[in-house]
Formats: sequence, structure tokens, C-alpha cells
Amino acid sequence: MFTATTLSGSKPEQYAELASQARSLLAGESDRIANAANLSALVYHALPALNWVGFYFYDGHELVVGPFQGQPACVRIPLDKGVCGAAASTRQTQRVADVDAFPGHIACDSASRSEVVVPLVADGRLIGVFDIDSPELDRFDADDQRGMETIAAIFVESLA
Ligand code: SME
Repeated sequence: MFTATTLSGSKPEQYAELASQARSLLAGESDRIANAANLSALVYHALPALNWVGFYFYDGHELVVGPFQGQPACVRIPLDKGVCGAAASTRQTQRVADVDAFPGHIACDSASRSEVVVPLVADGRLIGVFDIDSPELDRFDADDQRGMETIAAIFVESLA
């Protein structure tokens, strides 16, 4: 059985530890639903002040909700809508300090105040996005962004 240990040290050290837990959790498994479900649970429970952590997958037309932790979410997000759509269409991580100030933000969970969305791209192909929401304004800094990008990369690598 996998047991997550308590994270300690500086924020980059904590993310390094979390990345190592993520690698162990996904080791030897390439099923995208299984790995997305386990990573959502790992991140949601490892870090403070989060209210939604999960995946949207690209179906060739729009984003469709995948495994997540948190309140029930919007099922489909067009690529020209919301923070998730912006991450998917630009293929750039979106780090939003105040979601109410983001044009077109989709309020799936009205508790969300800030958000990081990392695009998932494998061999130049858009797979989906990894979305992390917080009930706190400006919850995520550059260390959080790098940490989430590493987790997202571990997920993409696990599918190969
Ligand atoms: N806030 C997102 C929608 C997804 S939920 O947060 C789960 C957005 O604007 O893309």
C-alpha cells in the first residue's frame, strides 16, 4: 500500500518530495484514469488550502472532466473558455492570483479564488490540463507553479 509521508523543508524541497511520491505512486502503471485519480488524491491531501485538484481531458473538440478531488465540476469546457481553456489553447501554464479578475473564468466551485492550470502535451499532442484551485487569493507562487508542472510532467511520462 502507498503511504504519503508528511512534506517537510522549504517549498522546493517539499515539491521535490511530492514529485518523488508521485513517481512511486505511478511506477509501472500507464492507465491514464488510474494515474490521474491517484495524482489528484495525492496532491489534494498533501498540500494546504486547496479546494479542487483534477484533470480535464481533451476529446479533440473540448475539455471533458476526468478524475478529481473536490466538489462536482463543470463537465465540458470549450478551449476558448475559462482558465482551463486558456491553458489548453495557449499550451502555457496559467497562474491566476484572482480568478474573479480573469476574463471568462468558469466558476465551477464558487469557493475558488486562485488557480493554476498546467497543459498536458505529449509528443506535440494536447492531452488535457491539470487544474489546481484554492479558496485563498494568490495562493500559488512560482515555486507552486514549477511543482505542479513537474507533477504534470510525471503524469504525461507515465502514459508512455
Ligand atoms: N475554474 C476553471 C473551471 C474548472 S473548475 O475550477 C474545476 C476555469 O475557469 O477554467
